[in-house]
Formats: sequence, C-alpha cells, structure tokens
Amino acid sequence: MEFPISKRMASFTESVFTELAQIKNSKLSDGLSVIDLSIGSPDMPPPSFVMEELARGARDQELYGYSLTGTNEFHTAVSGYYKRNFEVDVDPASEVLLLMGSQDGLVHLPMVLCDPGDYILVPDPGYTAYAAGAAMAGAQMYGMPLKKENSFLPDFNEIPEEILANTKLMILNFPGNPVPAMATEELFLQAIRLAKKYGFAVLHDFAYSELYYENKPLSFLSVEGAADVGIEMNSLSKSFNMAGCRVAYAAGNQQLIALLANFKSNLDYGVFLPVQAAAVKALNDQSGFLQDLRETYRKRRDVLIKDLETIGWDISRPEGSMFLWAEVPSGYSCSKDFAIDLINRAGVVVTPGSAFGRWGEGYVRIALVQHEDVLRQAALNIEGSGIFKKILA
Ligand SMILES: Cc1ncc(COP(=O)(O)O)c(C=O)c1O
Repeated sequence: MEFPISKRMASFTESVFTELAQIKNSKLSDGLSVIDLSIGSPDMPPPSFVMEELARGARDQELYGYSLTGTNEFHTAVSGYYKRNFEVDVDPASEVLLLMGSQDGLVHLPMVLCDPGDYILVPDPGYTAYAAGAAMAGAQMYGMPLKKENSFLPDFNEIPEEILANTKLMILNFPGNPVPAMATEELFLQAIRLAKKYGFAVLHDFAYSELYYENKPLSFLSVEGAADVGIEMNSLSKSFNMAGCRVAYAAGNQQLIALLANFKSNLDYGVFLPVQAAAVKALNDQSGFLQDLRETYRKRRDVLIKDLETIGWDISRPEGSMFLWAEVPSGYSCSKDFAIDLINRAGVVVTPGSAFGRWGEGYVRIALVQHEDVLRQAALNIEGSGIFKKILA
C-alpha cells in the first residue's frame, strides 16, 4: 500500500548529502579507502571529567525520570558561562532555555513566530536546518547572499523593502557554517536596528563560538540592544565534542525564551538529567580543554591549507569554525561535479557548496574532522588524482 503524504513533505526531499553518501558507500564496498571530510561532527571525545560525570549520573537510579526542563544548575551554568566569557548578564530563570541540541531550537522557533507566507531572512549559503524550520512553519526563506567581495557578510541594504515588511525572523550564524566568516559589532548593530524598525526577531546561531583561531567571536548578546530583539543559541556539540548528547541552550530575550519554552513543553520532556549534569561540568570548565581543542583544529587547518596550497589549491585561512570554504578549481561547471570527481579520483569526500544555497555554488566545504595525518593523506590523494597539476614537495 502507498500512503498519501502531506504537501509539507514536498519540502523534505532527499538531498545531495544522500547522493554523496551513496557514492562513498559504493567506493567502500568496492574495498577502496575513503577520507570523509564532509560531515560536521567532531571526531574527538568530550573532556574525561564530562564523561565521568555522565557515567556517574547513569548509575544513579534517581535520575531516570523525565527532566521536563533545564535544571537550576544548568541554567546557572549557562548564565555563569556568559558572564565569564562575554561579560553578559543573563538571568538564569527567565533568559535561558534548555534545548535538545541547538537544532531543536533552530527548527522550532519559526513555528512560534511565523505564519504561512511570512519571511525568514537566512544566510545563503547557510546551515540546512534553517530551511527545515521554515518549511515546517510554511514560511518563506529569503537568502541573504554571503559574497566574497563583502567578506562573506550579508549586505542588509540589498534586502527589498517588501520582504523586510513581511519578515518575522532573521537568522545569523557567526562563526558560520558552511562559510567560516566572523561577525562585526557593526553588523550586529545594523541587524538590531532593522529588527526594531520592522518588528522582527533575530536568532544568532553561535554553535561554533569556541572554535576560533585568533580573535574570540562576538556574542550577539554582548551588543547593545540585542536582548530587546533576539536570542542566541549555543550548543555543547562542537565546543565540548558532545554532539551525540543533544544538549544546547537559547539565551536572551525573555519573551522569545518564554514562547519557545511553551511550544517545547508541548513537544518534548527535556534532556536526560545526567547529560544536563555533564553539560554543567563542561560549561563551568576552566581546565584549558578548550584551548587544547582550538590548538588541535588550528594545526589541522594549517596542515591542510599548506599542503593544498603546494599542489595549487589556494584556500583562505578561516578565523573560526571547523570548516574550510574552498573555491572550486576552474574546469568544473558546478561544485557537485567537482565533489563527485574528488571522491572518484582522490577518495576524498567534501560537501558541494550548492547544498547550502544558491550562493554556495562555486565552493566546497571541507570539515577538519580528521587527524592531521589523515588530512596530509587527503592532500596526497588529491595531488595523486591529477586534478591539480602541481606536485607536493
Ligand atoms: C551552524 C550550526 N548550527 C547548529 C547546528 C546543530 O548543532 P546541535 O543540534 O548539535 O547543537 C549545527 C550542526 O552542525 C551547525 O553547523
């Protein structure tokens, strides 16, 4: 029997990610080795004190009930983290919301704010969950192009007046995925001014806040007026290698926090208490784990960029996130063709920029999610493929 499906499901078609995974799997089943630099999932473990806390909690039979919401300890740890890292005061009781991964918040906030036909302004290229959230709410997305000539920052002046007038939400993401750009205070101030003028909310996705190489990324909430119009979502997935734990939070505007909390109270029953306790340990950590993590990503970034440069692929050095945003070499008509050629000829999987929006065409995203030695091997494989003509020294 064939079930009829909802119209809404038309927005959730199989993506290029599925196609690439099929090509990768067929290589693997032919016995060939493949280096996967396409996924944004950390390959390293959480700090050992976090795992110990989780294990201790898992042995406590009192902790297996529904948590329903964030614990006081979790809310207080988020507030303390903001104070210590960004000099921002966040009220633990009314300005923090526990999320089951920031994905939970990103895809559900549009349901709270948008009616069918309303606009959500999103970065283009941008993280794919923004489209899923818009589709669930029946909202329309307006992509704000991230162009090289504008340092990959959106130009708000390009957004037509009639779009702004029907906008309910603007989503920003710095350091970004897939484009590892960093925000400026002026950009955030412009977003706040626009949000006030047109009466829409701002959501800053700060999932890569701890992955930076030179200057610490700016918290949206540290900018004057931000909490009047918006919230910031952050996650322990990338900062503490806890992606599978599904623990994150939103902080900022009280009304938005309350609305999302209300919506979520109808959908889920919170995060496993031992996971929340482990997250508290992580957020309170001052052991130097994060410095070491950044150093690991920095070495990976530098090794790969240097080796690829030697064979003739020049990639600009990102200041944050765990990704390189690399231009497709000449001779390819699109990023997908190049990505497929790279798997077939070099056994290296990257993500075509077009998977993240129209303005991602011409680029591929390379995730630094393998050990340095594996990244060196990836560069050697690419060199051996003959796609780039120069030879590695
Ligand atoms: C920009 C961005 N935001 C949010 C997420 C979701 O992270 P999580 O749901 O694990 O917190 C990701 C995951 O890759 C991401 O890249």
